[in-house]
Amino acid sequence: MELLHSATFPTKQKLLIVVIIATALLTIIPLLYPFLEDPNFLLKQQPPSQNSIIKLQDTVVASHEGCDLFSGEWVPNPEAPYYTNTTCWAIHEHQNCMRFGRPDTDFFKWKWRPYGCEDGLPVFDPIRFLEIVRGKTMAFVGDSVSRNHMQSLICLLSQVEYPVDASVKDDDYFRRWTYETYNFTMAAFWTPHLVKSTEPGKTHPKYTDIFDLYLDEADEIWTADIGDFDYVIISSGHWHYRPSLYYENKSVVGCHYCQLPNITDLTMFYGYRKAFRTALKAVLDSESFKGVMYLRTFAPSHFEGGLWNEGGDCLRKQPYKSDVTQDETTMMLHKIQLEEFQRAEEEAKQKGKRLRLLDTTQAMWLRPDGHPSHYGHMPETNVTLYNDCVHWCLPGPIDNLNDFLLAMLKREEDKGLLAQVRKMLS
Ligand SMILES: *[C@@H]1O[C@H](CO)[C@@H](O)[C@H](O)[C@H]1NC(C)=O
Ligand SMILES: *[C@@H]1O[C@H](CO)[C@@H](O)[C@H](O)[C@H]1NC(C)=O
Ligand SMILES: *[C@@H]1O[C@H](CO)[C@@H](O)[C@H](O)[C@H]1NC(C)=O
Ligand SMILES: *[C@@H]1O[C@H](CO)[C@@H](O)[C@H](O)[C@H]1NC(C)=O
Ligand SMILES: *[C@@H]1O[C@H](CO)[C@@H](O)[C@H](O)[C@H]1NC(C)=O
Repeated sequence: MELLHSATFPTKQKLLIVVIIATALLTIIPLLYPFLEDPNFLLKQQPPSQNSIIKLQDTVVASHEGCDLFSGEWVPNPEAPYYTNTTCWAIHEHQNCMRFGRPDTDFFKWKWRPYGCEDGLPVFDPIRFLEIVRGKTMAFVGDSVSRNHMQSLICLLSQVEYPVDASVKDDDYFRRWTYETYNFTMAAFWTPHLVKSTEPGKTHPKYTDIFDLYLDEADEIWTADIGDFDYVIISSGHWHYRPSLYYENKSVVGCHYCQLPNITDLTMFYGYRKAFRTALKAVLDSESFKGVMYLRTFAPSHFEGGLWNEGGDCLRKQPYKSDVTQDETTMMLHKIQLEEFQRAEEEAKQKGKRLRLLDTTQAMWLRPDGHPSHYGHMPETNVTLYNDCVHWCLPGPIDNLNDFLLAMLKREEDKGLLAQVRKMLS
């Protein structure tokens, strides 16, 4: 396919390639009913006319836009799980719930069914995924939930291949893995706020639990490297709940829950919005980044019966029914993400940058049953450990984020093929 960009072909050859691409489109997009109903479609198209390509394009666009993957419900999937803690070594200790005695197993036996998509959301196909990402690179940018997501992907891919460690530094927060058969590399970037931040106590020894967040400065730990990646998945959430001092233009403009005299509490929503605005701006302004950025929306926690530090726990064994409404904070954080994404998207279109939304908040909201709770460590540990209602057991509902991811990669592939066909015909 690369050849298409670099060479000019005689017309006959050009059309042959169009036929090949059109055929490829027909085989990868099972939604083309108007054409598929006529088994002679391909034979009749010798070569495909401009009209048939336009039709093809309309069908692809309509099938993408007419089908909102992210609005739906969880339905039973007896086939799951697709790996266990014995087949996958990438499960983080604290998310290996079966190891620590979680007795129920229903929580990994569900799949997402979007309301408006004829074919639903196919479960993750590791070979298809690896074929799409062959020769490519993917970065997971965010906090430990982002790492949780990446480890889930490694486990799902372990049905086909294990990666080799390709880390450029010896730091668990920045692991890189390469799938040698497919020359595919994925990397984790640790940046819990996406913007520059310093740990409590560093700049103000007195304030032992307050982070400094520089809301208008993206964290260079990831922005400096995104040019090396074809796909960048950014996310952020739970760290924004912590008490923080907010800086803009290097001066304090307010805080979130700092309880300091003379400093306005702007709430976490202020900081969250600014952090995403800055992160998205960094992606838009990056000259080296030519890939696709996915904003994976907030994955809510599910503490019940108290806050995380007040004995709150998550003991449900079933997903919520889809009419259970989100808690107000989740709703607000999600709304902020959508607003900031839309704002950035307008600029992205002008600049020809590709920003996409992995809008999985509602799906994850409906899964209070998927967290480790107290099955993230040995029960006899003689210290007070909080129940983990933030991360997700592996296997578990976070595996489904990869169903969404693959569906989005397929859509991107369709768009790429169409763009090539269009270019050929112009
Ligand atoms: C895997 O889970 C089982 C329970 O299903 C547990 O007995 C075992 O210790 C776990 N193994 C590893 C390697 O985590
Ligand atoms: C592997 O992929 C990288 C880009 O991710 C590319 O630069 C490199 O040439 C590829 N290597 C081979 C052997 O194809
Ligand atoms: C940032 O602060 C500097 C120095 O105080 C000032 O000159 C500049 O105008 C400020 N910029 C913005 C965008 O507020
Ligand atoms: C708060 O601001 C007032 C008025 O500007 C000032 O008198 C007071 O000293 C300040 N308090 C602190 C703790 O900075
Ligand atoms: C657990 O902690 C308590 C109080 O700190 C101590 O008295 C006890 O010996 C500890 N038990 C074990 C098994 O370490």
